[in-house]
Amino acid sequence: MVESPPRQPALPRISALQRAWLEELGLDAPLLAPGLVPDDPPTVPSGRAARTGEATARVEDAGDHFIDVGPRHRAQRVGGHSAGADSRQRGGAEGEAWPRAAPAGELETLRRQVEQCRACGLCEGRSHAVFGEGVARAPDWMVVGEAPGDCDDRSGRPFQGEAGALLANMLSAVGIVADDQVYATNLVKCRPLGNRPPLPEEIAACLPYLRQQVVLLAPRLILAVGRVAAQTLTGSQSTLSQLRGRVHAFESPDGRQIPLVVTHHPASLLLQPQHKLDAWRDLVLARRAVR
Ligand code: URA
Ligand code: SF4
Repeated sequence: MVESPPRQPALPRISALQRAWLEELGLDAPLLAPGLVPDDPPTVPSGRAARTGEATARVEDAGDHFIDVGPRHRAQRVGGHSAGADSRQRGGAEGEAWPRAAPAGELETLRRQVEQCRACGLCEGRSHAVFGEGVARAPDWMVVGEAPGDCDDRSGRPFQGEAGALLANMLSAVGIVADDQVYATNLVKCRPLGNRPPLPEEIAACLPYLRQQVVLLAPRLILAVGRVAAQTLTGSQSTLSQLRGRVHAFESPDGRQIPLVVTHHPASLLLQPQHKLDAWRDLVLARRAVR
């Protein structure tokens, strides 16, 4: 079947603060011309049933075909050097059926396994395995990158370098508060030397850890950044530009269908800033998928 190019969601009305962030990202006056920013942003009715089609839900118009996966809720943040920093619990009147995140202890057990793992050759070059960190109970977004970089390897924390700073700004630009809403990790937990992409056999060796993280965390949405993460998590060899612009479904090992959005890797945006507007559109799409 020939696929038509993905339609872009309309851009939402933005606040002065978000405009400031966008300008900092290089998305400034020409891109933010009035015609691009409708006065009446589309709304997604709460309670809409998930509409995933066979494998993915293509965005057909700005106000429809987004997946509503459940009530909003509060976060508990653990991981990295901030373990247990925020003990707010999800639940209450809204929070019964979703999420079903596991107790933090199970995640810590998995972290220890990863720190001792020697299942692929990447263990030879690591200073630290980078397990992931952030909101550990049903984060709104689970961001999945490719592999730790040098800074991450040294610190044991994901997305520490310049690309990570850009990612944080991009999240802020769409109103995502990393401390309250995000868990960040990578396809592979150990740094490939020389910043090369991980090999298929390295990804295959490490993927069970990510899949287990998905089960334990129960994220509401997965954001795959970069081609390698996008192709791996969609199970497709299509290009990143073919995979962008729609909400896929990631089948969690526990049978849950989790909305999955793919976008450019922030490191590639540093080299190709002309893709920042597309990245912003992707994040807007992700934001609406689980509002
Ligand atoms: N740091 C990460 O943690 N992941 C990436 O993909 C790049 C840098
Ligand atoms: Fe183990 Fe993953 Fe590190 Fe390979 S990259 S040694 S599979 S933790």
